[in-house]
Amino acid sequence: MSYDAIILGAGGAGLLAAATAGAAGARVLLLDHADKPGKKILISGGGRCNFTNLGTAAECFLSENPHFAKSALSRYSQWDFLALVEAHGIVWHEKTLGQLFCDGSARQIVAMLLEECRRGGVEIRLSTPVGEIGHADGRFHVAGAEAPQLVIATGGPSIPKMGATGLAYQIARRFGLDVVTPRPALVPFTLGEADMLFRTISGVSCPSVARVGDVAFEEATLFTHRGLSGPAILQVSSYWSPGQPVSLNVLADAAGKLREARRRMPRAHLKAALAEHLPTRLAEALASRIGIARELGNVADAELDRAAGILSALTFHPTGTEGFAKAEVTAGGISTAGLSSKTMAARAVPGLYAIGEAVDVTGWLGGYNFQWAWSSGVAAGRAI
Ligand code: FDA
Repeated sequence: MSYDAIILGAGGAGLLAAATAGAAGARVLLLDHADKPGKKILISGGGRCNFTNLGTAAECFLSENPHFAKSALSRYSQWDFLALVEAHGIVWHEKTLGQLFCDGSARQIVAMLLEECRRGGVEIRLSTPVGEIGHADGRFHVAGAEAPQLVIATGGPSIPKMGATGLAYQIARRFGLDVVTPRPALVPFTLGEADMLFRTISGVSCPSVARVGDVAFEEATLFTHRGLSGPAILQVSSYWSPGQPVSLNVLADAAGKLREARRRMPRAHLKAALAEHLPTRLAEALASRIGIARELGNVADAELDRAAGILSALTFHPTGTEGFAKAEVTAGGISTAGLSSKTMAARAVPGLYAIGEAVDVTGWLGGYNFQWAWSSGVAAGRAI
């Protein structure tokens, strides 16, 4: 069968690219090896899909070329996707920090995309392995179909048990595109013996400012039995390189708060002062790490300041991350150097496109990754 375009991968990027191209009259085949489209959409945002972020801007993405995402994000923005969501009558809410979720279920987003594909006359073939890709006379041959245009939308290798693979990189390399080394991102850290103390507080979460190098995020940190997680940690993990320390400020204005506690309750111990602001188990663990055994009234300024210094820069040395098995996204991927930022087309291979997570553009936590899937998908869909 002959089509105008074959799109590989029925995730968020592939579905919206297919619908966009179909709406403009292109005959589109969308292929996926999974038995259902949009599986990651279905499990996203705790089943409610954090489908975009009101604050989306190129600064919220990591890439070797930090400007690459600008064009696609501005040509199909968070407001455009929100208009589509509203046109389908999907009720949404802003949870925090500009993050938009469905009031109902992530299934509504998949249903919306499938309806858009249906309107565009897109043919969707599921449970279909991609197999060998032929390329001759300007036409791509895949799974018994052929087209002059091929879109790589097979995502990255994070969460392989959901069917994620590195197929995008194999195809890219085969056509001479560079691949920026893929690495797990938005991923928990593992800690070793030196940070053992914190294993005892597994399950405790607290507001924090997490920092890696010059990058800092103010959100919650969760202590786990293996290490560190929670939104602040996932955010900084995308910027982390092996060997780098991660620091946490768990108490804003710690020096001021400790002095005030000393004035107000001089007979109390540090643990009690900390427990006014932090979960009890964390307060206990920190007080024992700081090691001030006297009543606060007997603690000198310098010692309180030393304690405040520890609380504002608790330093951890992760032994690694939980890897692709637990990473919400993959950073790195098909290099933007060989792609048009306007259309996502490979400059050197006429008719080849790459979109979504497969490309070296990775968003922060909070709806940014889906917005990239939508924006890059529409960019390619309009060009087909
Ligand atoms: P995606 O991975 O969605 O789709 C790729 C498609 O290609 C899949 O359907 C897959 O089956 C198919 N495929 C892969 N290999 C293939 C092969 N060899 N042959 C054929 N088909 C193949 N982001 C966000 O913005 N808000 C959120 O709330 C969340 N939440 C979230 C939760 C969890 C648990 C995860 C793992 C991830 C998120 N994300 C997220 C990230 C978001 O899911 C991700 O960035 C997008 O789904 C990427 O969309 P793509 O379409 O590029 O790839």
